[in-house]
Amino acid sequence: MDIQNVCVIGAGIMGSGIAQLLAIHGINVNLVDINDQILIKVKNVIDNNLQKFYIAKNKISKEEAEKILNRINLFVNREEAIKDVQMVIEAIFEDMDLKQELFADLDAQCNKDVILASNTSSLSITDIALKSINQERIIGIHFFNPAPVMKLIELIKGKKTSDEIVKKSTLFSERLNKTVVTVNDTPGFVTTRLIYVLCNEAINLLTQGIASAKDIDTACKLAFNFPMGPLELSDLVGNDIYNHIGVYLEKELGKNYQPSALLQKMVSEGLLGRKTGKGFYEY
Ligand code: NAI
Repeated sequence: MDIQNVCVIGAGIMGSGIAQLLAIHGINVNLVDINDQILIKVKNVIDNNLQKFYIAKNKISKEEAEKILNRINLFVNREEAIKDVQMVIEAIFEDMDLKQELFADLDAQCNKDVILASNTSSLSITDIALKSINQERIIGIHFFNPAPVMKLIELIKGKKTSDEIVKKSTLFSERLNKTVVTVNDTPGFVTTRLIYVLCNEAINLLTQGIASAKDIDTACKLAFNFPMGPLELSDLVGNDIYNHIGVYLEKELGKNYQPSALLQKMVSEGLLGRKTGKGFYEY
């Protein structure tokens, strides 16, 4: 089965990037969100991205950009959007209850051969699938931000995900020119678990007065060739996001993953990083 039509649910940072990526690779996208305003805004953002990063750099012509944009169709009605697609990619809020309900609905509504994928960055795929009947077709396809640029896709095989679905999802991801790593399901997978632990430990070092934020970040950048230090990264991603991941990992995996007291305090004081103008640094 060739995957030519894909429904992307959630048109936020990730859903819009995934829609753009798929359309560039010739795939028709039905993009779903809760209202028209969000969807129209997102289509304008994608239009601007195509101008700025592709047409202006002579990567594609104006006519090609128009074709790419025309491959993205906007829907508020999810049931309409999933008709005739071979895959659904979910990119709604990071909330287990919401995702479980959505997947149960999708599983009941989509043809049996449709692949149901979640772009969750931390939640167990096995748990997301728990309320669905056909759990073998549910998989994690973890894109990174910005989806059109980042080279990696982390495929997450839930306890019941079939080998056939893993194989099809791998081929699909490779068609998008991505490098695929396949991991067995666990909260945080490989990438989120590692980056969370690094950032949280950097915050512990800061709390213990071992080094300043700047020195911790400089050490990581120059010692490990990281493009960004862990505290800068936490400010960029949002300190609330890392705290949320930590709370979940602690619940699922144990005390070692407890978010640092400083991180929790900063979140309660609204020091979320770049988005609030202040975190480990001022912006
Ligand atoms: P976001 O908050 O930017 O976007 C979520 C979108 O989903 C919103 O536009 C919202 O209106 C829509 N939405 C919520 N419930 C919906 C529903 N029932 N039906 C249709 N649309 C609905 O979130 P973001 O950052 O794009 O994250 C989405 C998912 O991707 C999360 O699971 C997150 O963990 C994951 N992720 C995020 C990354 C990031 O760097 N932001 C990286 C990789 C994965």
